[in-house]
Amino acid sequence: MRILGIESSCDETAAAVVTDKRVILSSIVQSQHQSHAVYGGVVPEIAARCHIENMEGVVRQALAEAQCDFSDLDAIAATTGPGLIGGVIVGTMTGKAFASYLKKPFIAINHLEGHALTARLSDNVSFPYLLLLVSGGHCQIIAVEAVGKYSKLGGTVDDALGEAFDKTAKLLGLGFPGGREVERHAIEGNPLRFTFPLPMKGRAGCDFSFSGLKTAVRLKVQELRQQQPLSKQDTADICASFQYTTGEILKDRIGNAIAIYNERYENKNLVVAGGVAANLYLRGILGEIADKAGFSMFCPPIALCTDNAAMIAWAGMERLWLGLASPLTTEPRARWALTEF
Ligand code: KG4
Ligand code: ZN
Repeated sequence: MRILGIESSCDETAAAVVTDKRVILSSIVQSQHQSHAVYGGVVPEIAARCHIENMEGVVRQALAEAQCDFSDLDAIAATTGPGLIGGVIVGTMTGKAFASYLKKPFIAINHLEGHALTARLSDNVSFPYLLLLVSGGHCQIIAVEAVGKYSKLGGTVDDALGEAFDKTAKLLGLGFPGGREVERHAIEGNPLRFTFPLPMKGRAGCDFSFSGLKTAVRLKVQELRQQQPLSKQDTADICASFQYTTGEILKDRIGNAIAIYNERYENKNLVVAGGVAANLYLRGILGEIADKAGFSMFCPPIALCTDNAAMIAWAGMERLWLGLASPLTTEPRARWALTEF
């Protein structure tokens, strides 16, 4: 079986063809980063227009690389939320139009479910598992029990972790999106030069907060700039100290999450997904926590951590197996919690 996946919920227009044997026949991601970079963040109206312009070419390329035709597809899966509504509308309408014309099932996918199930595409991880979902817009800890069965154990009370990385990068003039840049500069930096706060540390539960950390980084940068312009080393040290702090926060929060999860489930698997899971330093930290707790850790390959359509096609496959196709009346949604199925 082959499914065409379509993703357009933020600033990547993506299409992919994935088989039921877990083979990614193609995965095309056309990023709009250059169109948004001058604004230092994603501009929803520009994103929607770019999706309209790019969608047809991206789908054509995905089919061509997969060496298949529309007639070879068994279903069409598209992200129908949550996300920037203009882009979500473009993907949803494209998916529904193809499905309607081809008379094939349409499968509406929650973008977060795409991230949540990716490790089953890359590593065939069995249910249940503990999921840390960390991206630009989301930061949640979830027990994934089955397709469509997600139990939220904790989440951020303010910013997402990726957002904190992006804001730190913006403050330092490192471009957008900034997570990868912060990681790159951190390699040359001293993680212990600056001490930043560890919000929520020691508290029960596994919620997160990053706004205090963000403010502390901003104040420190202002203080340094008052003395003299930031040197390359200052920038690297800020990045390293910030990244180190996020690692310490994750250690504390995931430690609690594992304890909560262990009370209810027996499978000891930790999955890390979403754009921030591309960060190799944080992967290392999480790997150590997993090891100590006797958990196996699974992180999808980096190209499957950041937004892509292979994860949407795969979530579509999981749903198709269960007979969970969606009606063509399905509407795009800006907000859609993973626990809301
Ligand atoms: O999953 P994703 O591509 O889009 C959303 O669904 O939000 O995640 C994007 C986020 C951005 O905030 C980006 O800065 C962050 O993931 N990110 C990283 C790294 N690569 C991407 N954060 C830290 N380190 C990285 N290497
Ligand atoms: Zn995402």
